[in-house]
Amino acid sequence: MGNSMTRKEMIDKLSKAIKDKSLVKKYLMAKYFSYLERRREGKKFLENNLQTSVKTLIKMMQCVIWAKNKYFGIPTGKSPEDFWVYMEIIYELQPDIIIEIGNFMGGSTLALAHILDNIGKGRIIGLDINHNDVPLTVKKHPRIRLITGDACELFPTVRDLITTGEKVLIIEDSSHTYKNTINVLRTYNSLVSKGSYFIVEDTIVNHGLDFPGEFLSGGPYEAVETFMKENDNFIIDRSREKFIITWNPRGYLKKIK
Ligand SMILES: C[S@@+](CC[C@H](N)C(=O)[O-])C[C@H]1O[C@@H](n2cnc3c(N)ncnc32)[C@H](O)[C@@H]1O
Repeated sequence: MGNSMTRKEMIDKLSKAIKDKSLVKKYLMAKYFSYLERRREGKKFLENNLQTSVKTLIKMMQCVIWAKNKYFGIPTGKSPEDFWVYMEIIYELQPDIIIEIGNFMGGSTLALAHILDNIGKGRIIGLDINHNDVPLTVKKHPRIRLITGDACELFPTVRDLITTGEKVLIIEDSSHTYKNTINVLRTYNSLVSKGSYFIVEDTIVNHGLDFPGEFLSGGPYEAVETFMKENDNFIIDRSREKFIITWNPRGYLKKIK
């Protein structure tokens, strides 16, 4: 009886998941990460990995980044190497506004706000289709303004929040599909200030880290390639990939004119 109930629950969950594509995606991702976690077992420390290929190491790191990284107790999907580079860019630029597209639970948003706190200026505009899981610590931070909705649809609202002459930095970290990333790049590039950056995250998808499904036909990396062919206001600043290990290969776009 107990078993049949559990089976029924599982079947109900599965049928719900099949109707709801986002649940299917979450299920597949969870399976993928538990597979990576299993592979990592027994190879936890540096001394066990001196002969491990970078490609395998990146997979192992991805597992930890996505499943275990936290900022001030809040889950965040940032690679530590890249976040260090963000800190350096932000310190150099001293931006008035950081637009973070894709906030997830807000860990990265809070981390960016804390950098601005230390600099003593600037604000964050955080865009996501869902802010339900963002804790109050993030929502109430005085430098953070979260706006819920599709990033491209929100463009007019975001544009109206920026005063001419303000220094703007953009970090795109939303759905990572080719279509959405190229739309975000085309829609938002005019807001980036000269000398500042449009950082496109997770260009590592299928360019270092293999991803199944919809990403096989293109993701952020390919979107950047398309964008760079049609827009000569930006260069790819590869000096920002100084740790070699980066989740954003060819993803640091610097506006030069
Ligand atoms: C990879 S997570 C963001 C991770 C976060 N920046 C961090 O480092 O912790 C991607 C987020 O993008 C959001 N998203 C997906 N498509 C979007 C869209 N079209 N517009 C705005 N946000 C979107 C998702 O809801 C999800 O929270």
